[in-house]
Amino acid sequence: MKDLKICIVGASGKLGQYMVKHALDRGYEVVGVCREASVAKLDAFKGRITVLAGATDDREVIKRAVAGCDGVLTVLVPRGVHGYSTGTAQAVLDHAPPAARLVFSSGWHITCDGRDRYSWKLKALVKIAGPLAKLARFADLDDQVEACRRIFASDTRWTVVRGSDLEEGESQGLPVWSRHVGDPILKTNLTRRVDFALFMVDALTNDELVREAPAIVGRRSPSAVANGLQSDLVERSVGSPPSRRRAVGRHR
Ligand SMILES: NC(=O)c1ccc[n+]([C@@H]2O[C@H](COP(=O)([O-])OP(=O)(O)OC[C@H]3O[C@@H](n4cnc5c(N)ncnc54)[C@H](OP(=O)(O)O)[C@@H]3O)[C@@H](O)[C@H]2O)c1
Repeated sequence: MKDLKICIVGASGKLGQYMVKHALDRGYEVVGVCREASVAKLDAFKGRITVLAGATDDREVIKRAVAGCDGVLTVLVPRGVHGYSTGTAQAVLDHAPPAARLVFSSGWHITCDGRDRYSWKLKALVKIAGPLAKLARFADLDDQVEACRRIFASDTRWTVVRGSDLEEGESQGLPVWSRHVGDPILKTNLTRRVDFALFMVDALTNDELVREAPAIVGRRSPSAVANGLQSDLVERSVGSPPSRRRAVGRHR
């Protein structure tokens, strides 16, 4: 199989750097986009990836970066109050080759079909911290909502990966996922950031995830283990062929 050429939009962030590493481990050709001021954060990958410096909502930068790519991994960043996420998403939707796999990152607060059931804690966070962040002109959660609305409405080959709370630490393997927040398997609400990145990269070659918005959780988290993923099954599925892993990891 031909090695993929992929673009990572937001490559210099924590999630982005893990994605670069996973992609290089798979032998993919990587083009990374990040802000001019952040290029040095990618020094560890010098000579192994192509870096394009610029705002990730700059349509010209994105157009050049995604040209000829088989897949695009995009970190949706709701920073500022000027529609940064929406601009990024729209540029990727408009300029990526039509057959490309497009994988976007977001949080559980995004809903695709309105059937997610949120805890009071998450509802309160979105209701209180959201407006405060907007008031301080720091971040705008509605921007990520609008970005995802456009992605869901597009006829591209998209996936929106909805991350739970994140923690650092060694990989536990590919996270498990469900279509709806509120499903018991997601209850632990914690994923290693390195594994969030692994799920994003893996989604590039998983057609089952086309036009899905999987909500993910760590595969060794108590709720994943308790709800259908016995620990011995987890052991056996890590490192097994993709079809086997997905049959075990998916939960709808
Ligand atoms: N943090 C969480 O608990 C959590 C939970 C669930 C889902 N997520 C999702 O995971 C993804 C990654 O988030 P993360 O929190 O882990 O952070 P991250 O990977 O470090 O990404 C932060 C991104 O924001 C960019 N950025 C920072 N300040 C900016 C500014 N002023 N203007 C424009 N861009 C700016 C960074 O670019 P530079 O490198 O240029 O600074 C970087 O690309 C996001 O899509 C988020 O919605 C996060």
